[in-house]
Amino acid sequence: MAPVLSSLGLILSSLEAISTLHAGFSDDVIQQVRTNLIAIASQSWELGTAAEALTELEWPSLSVFNASSIPPPHVLDSSDDASDVLKIATDTVNAKPGDSLALVANDGAVGDPASIGVAVLLANWTDSSDTSYGTAASGQLDYLLNVAPRTDSGAISQRSDQAQLWADFIYMAPPFIAYYGALQGGDNGTSLLQTAYEQISLYRDVLRDDNGLWRHIALGSWQDATHWATGNGWAAAGMLRVLETIVHSPVASDFEDSSSNLAQWIQEIISTAWQYQADNGTLLNTIDDLSSFADSSGTALLASVTYRMAVYTKDTSLIPYADKAFTLIQNSIDSNGWLRNTVDPETFDTPSAANSASPEGQAFVLLLQSAYRDYASSVASGATPISNSTSSGTSDGDDDDNGTLVRRCRLVRHK
Ligand SMILES: *[C@@H]1O[C@H](CO)[C@@H](O)[C@H](O)[C@H]1NC(C)=O
Ligand SMILES: *[C@@H]1O[C@H](CO)[C@@H](O)[C@H](O)[C@H]1NC(C)=O
Ligand SMILES: *[C@@H]1O[C@H](CO)[C@@H](O)[C@H](O)[C@H]1NC(C)=O
Ligand SMILES: *[C@@H]1O[C@H](CO)[C@@H](O)[C@H](O)[C@H]1NC(C)=O
Ligand SMILES: *[C@@H]1O[C@H](CO)[C@@H](O)[C@H](O)[C@H]1NC(C)=O
Ligand SMILES: *[C@@H]1O[C@H](CO)[C@@H](O)[C@H](O)[C@H]1NC(C)=O
Repeated sequence: MAPVLSSLGLILSSLEAISTLHAGFSDDVIQQVRTNLIAIASQSWELGTAAEALTELEWPSLSVFNASSIPPPHVLDSSDDASDVLKIATDTVNAKPGDSLALVANDGAVGDPASIGVAVLLANWTDSSDTSYGTAASGQLDYLLNVAPRTDSGAISQRSDQAQLWADFIYMAPPFIAYYGALQGGDNGTSLLQTAYEQISLYRDVLRDDNGLWRHIALGSWQDATHWATGNGWAAAGMLRVLETIVHSPVASDFEDSSSNLAQWIQEIISTAWQYQADNGTLLNTIDDLSSFADSSGTALLASVTYRMAVYTKDTSLIPYADKAFTLIQNSIDSNGWLRNTVDPETFDTPSAANSASPEGQAFVLLLQSAYRDYASSVASGATPISNSTSSGTSDGDDDDNGTLVRRCRLVRHK
């Protein structure tokens, strides 16, 4: 496991401070969750999400959350070689038939194969001896922009057989389009960053409901108007990756209005969603339907976005909800490293069967750990203020006179 995994422990062990920071998941748990993820991720969107989760967890200097990640180095250090991420890219490109523009042929989904595209672009950028990655990435972009069905408003469909919009698309395609543009540079690159932003805006026009949450699926031959927790997570987390790609690109200053809109659109989802958090920290599968069941997957993904948005905005008012969700997720991982109490990612509206696990749920745990690690490190460095709110439940604390809960916890290394 890469050394970065233990850096959270180091930061925390050197910090005896007034803090709401907790220790995060142990390295052992994360290692098991990661092993299980790699063992069961097989569908296009699962592989794309796994690649992103592994990048953020193990190779954070290459992830768009790092200010100096764009462009990545042309040659990776042997200690920072992103081998598991690049393996997903290599396996995908090797399996792709030559006549398929999409990275995964005949997938049915338009966006999902593109989710692997970020890893393919990284492979192209860091291996100049093999042109197959660049060709595959440009074919995938061509498919999205010029072949896939669109709505009348110009939104690229999530399905290849009809024009239908799914919240899931936001995590699958715009982050790839934006990363492609950021690496390309020049006018064409800027135009791709603009396209990624516009697609999000067109999707939001259709999927956002009055209370700020997004419906899952609209248009086409059938719909899912529920405020699916994972769908809202896909939308918020996808917008966040595009936002980070834009602000870390060389043309960030051309996109100030777009960046500000994206931040507001993400905040709108998370601030609404947490209003429905159950006492034990979970969100329900349909966020605002009390008859729905608890879903740890969507909870983990939205908590990860909440930690990262606190770093972005310096507003820590939602951290207590994320901390409560973090505890719930810790309690939902069994002794073999499987996240329990997930929604079945293929039905959207039933819990996972007792003997099956959610590949995307496994990835969301890694995204949560990475987001928490970066949040904790930002707090430790003073860049993000300590959470000032009173409802956090993950560590010991006392109420002081002015009502702010101040926590003095000796944070010890967990291993
Ligand atoms: C970002 O990555 C660079 C290496 O490219 C590294 O030096 C730096 O520490 C990273 N920044 C953060 C905040 O992790
Ligand atoms: C692939 O990498 C090369 C640089 O090594 C770059 O010139 C080219 O634009 C890249 N292709 C894509 C699709 O990003
Ligand atoms: C920009 O895009 C246009 C149209 O797709 C293409 O003809 C042109 O070669 C591109 N320019 C660069 C510098 O890649
Ligand atoms: C958390 O609370 C929800 C809603 O009250 C409940 O359905 C769920 O079973 C609880 N989860 C755990 C792990 O206790
Ligand atoms: C906590 O800080 C944020 C950002 O500074 C502020 O918007 C919020 O009102 C504060 N909350 C409390 C309870 O003081
Ligand atoms: C509340 O108390 C904390 C800790 O004693 C202090 O840092 C903070 O400035 C106080 N806030 C106000 C509004 O008095």
